[in-house]
Amino acid sequence: MHNIEQLVKDAAAEFARIDDAAQLEQAKARYLGKSGSLTELLKALGQLPAEERRSQGAAINRAKDSIEAALNERRETLRRAALSAQLAAEALDVTLPGRGRGRGGLHPATRTLERIEQLFRSIGFEVADGPEIETDWHNFTALNTPENHPARSMHDTFYLEESPGVTASGVLLRTHTSPVQIRYLQSHVAQYGHLAAMPEIRIIAPGRVYRVDSDATHSPMFHQVEGLMVGENVSFADLKGVMADFLRRFFESDDLEVRFRPSFFPFTEPSAEIDVAFMSGALEGRWLEIAGCGMVHPNVLANGGIDPERYTGFAFGMGPDRLTMLRYGIDDLRLFFDGDLRFLSQFR
Ligand code: FA5
Ligand code: MG
Repeated sequence: MHNIEQLVKDAAAEFARIDDAAQLEQAKARYLGKSGSLTELLKALGQLPAEERRSQGAAINRAKDSIEAALNERRETLRRAALSAQLAAEALDVTLPGRGRGRGGLHPATRTLERIEQLFRSIGFEVADGPEIETDWHNFTALNTPENHPARSMHDTFYLEESPGVTASGVLLRTHTSPVQIRYLQSHVAQYGHLAAMPEIRIIAPGRVYRVDSDATHSPMFHQVEGLMVGENVSFADLKGVMADFLRRFFESDDLEVRFRPSFFPFTEPSAEIDVAFMSGALEGRWLEIAGCGMVHPNVLANGGIDPERYTGFAFGMGPDRLTMLRYGIDDLRLFFDGDLRFLSQFR
């Protein structure tokens, strides 16, 4: 009897020490298996005298129930522990910051173009455009540029080749946005008729232009914004007023230093170049040319189909990349085209 009670205690103690499900099943076999301790006791029953057999049999059965109960309890404890361990291991910390993606931003040159468009639209200018691959006629001839003008040389202009080494006749990468003047005048005339009183023309034409040029303030591909205003009584005073007002608003400064410097372009008369002084950065105080401008040459109006006796106009061609340099105090234009994120991400 004592033997049986001890067996139950030993089994319960052993199960309680075990932390592993497989080991628990092995321990079970030592008590309840084919040759387990309790099974051996059962087998020995037959040798007992009949009167003892009964009580001993009942005691063994109670012991078996107790051992099984202890076993099941331990199984359940281990199962729950395993479940909590798994839950802890697979837990998501929903409070961790997300990984996210870096937010992109507009290129500083694009921001400047958008700002220019917005300011000119606010004073009634429409936005026009033209092709980057241009004819020699639109880019030079129609703009009153003589055959021997240096800008027409291969040193300055990218001509297109029909096949390697063979220059296509009169096709080039436009060197400025001024050919849009011709294209716009012609389509305006086509729409309203030559002599009919036409609505005043006020456009800007932003876009890419190309030259054989490269240094800190020149890049082979850069941007220009052409401006054109044509009507009755449009004067140089209008040109000055529009540009001065635009620049003050663009730079958000009333004491901006701006100068109009007499210059020459075949397509304007008189002509000027506009310089603005750096207000910050390493180049503070230095002048930077930002635009060419002037009164549209009568020959150009005529090439566009406009009567130069009746109408006058002004035009300008600005370098928005230079405006961006001035606005942010950047001393090298080439930074805009290197695609270096350390530079670009400052403008997000
Ligand atoms: C012209 O291109 C004329 N078509 C401008 C014009 C238009 C005059 C209408 C009169 C009437 P210019 O070559 O100076 O002019 O260029 C105009 C502006 O473009 C310059 O003031 C400068 O701001 C910018 N620019 C010129 N070359 C480059 C370059 N390689 N890289 C960056 N900006 C440039
Ligand atoms: Mg110039």
